[in-house]
Amino acid sequence: MNNQTERTLVLIKPDAVQRGLVGDIISRLESRGLNISGLKIIKIERTIAEQHYRVHKNRPFFPKLVDFITSSPVVAIVFQGRNAVEVTRNTMGQTNPSEATPGTIRGDFAIDIGRNLIHGSDSIKTAEEEILIFFTGNELLDYEMSTDPWITEP
Ligand code: RTP
Ligand code: MG
Repeated sequence: MNNQTERTLVLIKPDAVQRGLVGDIISRLESRGLNISGLKIIKIERTIAEQHYRVHKNRPFFPKLVDFITSSPVVAIVFQGRNAVEVTRNTMGQTNPSEATPGTIRGDFAIDIGRNLIHGSDSIKTAEEEILIFFTGNELLDYEMSTDPWITEP
């Protein structure tokens, strides 16, 4: 991983898994030029969800958010690449899908803030913390792709 490369945590949320949107969501981030470093399908335990969303613990929507994210399996992915955090966030679109730009994941496939399909870390620091919640070191691979020089200027 060179010094311009970042890692970010993506959760493909229960609504997206249930609606059969996993492939489309991965494809959009992969096509953008991000590489998959780790990937698994999991049912998130309540304590893990509470830890992951702890910054929102005093917000009125917190209990429903934890109920939702633990309600059915999610696909957890670590994407790696240049500006991976920002690139993932702008591919996702605004938190409220009603305000998300068409062409983004939320802007194309969602309409309700409580069913917004995907989580992406919101900073490099939170990405590092969130990755540690969901992945062990040996579940993450750092490897070269032959297409890398065609995606990012060295
Ligand atoms: P996420 O953490 O899931 O990637 O989403 P985000 O950064 O775009 O949004 P954030 O502010 O971190 O909020 C986390 C999740 O809480 C739900 N939410 N509901 N009813 C509400 O006002 C409200 N606000 C936020 C959303 O499902 C959001 O994804
Ligand atoms: Mg967030």
